[in-house]
Amino acid sequence: MRRLLLDTDTAGDDTIAILMALRARDAVLEGITINCGNVDFEQQVENALYTVQVAGRSGKVPVYPGSTHPLLKEWRTAKEVHGNDGMGGSYFPKAKQRPETTHAVDAIVDTINSNPGEIDLVEIAPMTNLAIAIRKDPGIVKKVRRFYFMGGSNQYLGNVTPAAEFNIWVDPDAARIVFESGLPATMVGWEICMRRGFLGARELDRIEAMGTGESKFFLAVNREVRRFTKRTYGLDGTECTDSLTMSMVLNPRVASDVRKKFVEVDSTDGPSRGATVVDERGVLGKKPNVDVVYEASQKLFREMLYRTLSGGPV
Ligand code: RIB
Ligand code: CA
Repeated sequence: MRRLLLDTDTAGDDTIAILMALRARDAVLEGITINCGNVDFEQQVENALYTVQVAGRSGKVPVYPGSTHPLLKEWRTAKEVHGNDGMGGSYFPKAKQRPETTHAVDAIVDTINSNPGEIDLVEIAPMTNLAIAIRKDPGIVKKVRRFYFMGGSNQYLGNVTPAAEFNIWVDPDAARIVFESGLPATMVGWEICMRRGFLGARELDRIEAMGTGESKFFLAVNREVRRFTKRTYGLDGTECTDSLTMSMVLNPRVASDVRKKFVEVDSTDGPSRGATVVDERGVLGKKPNVDVVYEASQKLFREMLYRTLSGGPV
C-alpha cells in the first residue's frame, strides 16, 4: 500500500489530483499540506477541504495550512487562470471539515519521521513548505521513499514567463533548496503536461457525458482554465498538470521514459527567474539530481482520469 503526502496550492487541476489519490485502490493519502500559489491562501485551504468532501472522505484526510508567502520573492497568483476562487468561479460552500492547527511544515517533518522509508511526497505547488521542512530537519531527505513534483520545464517555454513554469517561478529559492537536498526526485515538467496531459473538446465532451458528481466537479473547476487556454494558446481544452503527475505516482507505467539529469534552478530576479536548467548532455559534469520524465502514456493517464471521474476506483 502506497502512502502519500500531498503538497498543493489547491485550484483547478490540483483538486483532480486529490480526487485521483483518494480513489486509488492501493494508496492512502495521509494528509494534504497547503502552500502559497494559485489563489488566496485561505481559499486554497477551503478548496482542499471541499475537494475531500466531494470525494466522500470528509474528516478523514487532514488538511494542514502552511506557507502563505515564498521564502524571499514577491509573487502573484494565477487567478486569471483558475478564477478568483480557484474553482472556475463556482464559489462552493465551505466544507464541514476544518483545517488542522498543526503547521504544514511540522506535518511534513513528523509524518516522514514517524514512517521512515514509507512516505511518497507529491508536490503540485511551489516548494516553500518542503524547503522549510528540509531546513528544519535535513534528516527527512533520506527517509522519504520517493519525491514527485509537477514543476519546471525541460527545454521548453514556461507558462508564467517565457522561461519559467509557475510552481518553480513562485519560489525558486525553495526549489533550489529542494533540488540540492538529495531528495530522490521525479520531475513532471510543463512540457510533458502540455503534450500528454491536455484534454481537448472531444475528451471534455466524454467527461460531460459521464454525468457523475466528479465529472461535473471537474468541468466546474476547469471552466476558467478552458477559457484561459483558448485565449492564451488558441486551444479548446484544459491541461491536466497535477492529475497527470498523480497518475505517474500511482501507476509507474504512465511515465514511459525517465532520464537522470542534473537540473538546477535560476533563483535570480532576472527574466529567467524560476527557469529549470536541465543539463541534457551532462556538460556541467555534475551528478544528476533529478529523474526527468521525457515521455508518458496519454492513454494510461486518461484511463485513470476517466475512472476517477466516473466515481470508480483507480
Ligand atoms: O504550472 C502549473 C502548475 O502551477 C499547476 O500545479 C497549477 O496548479 C499551478 O500550481
Ligand atoms: Ca498546483
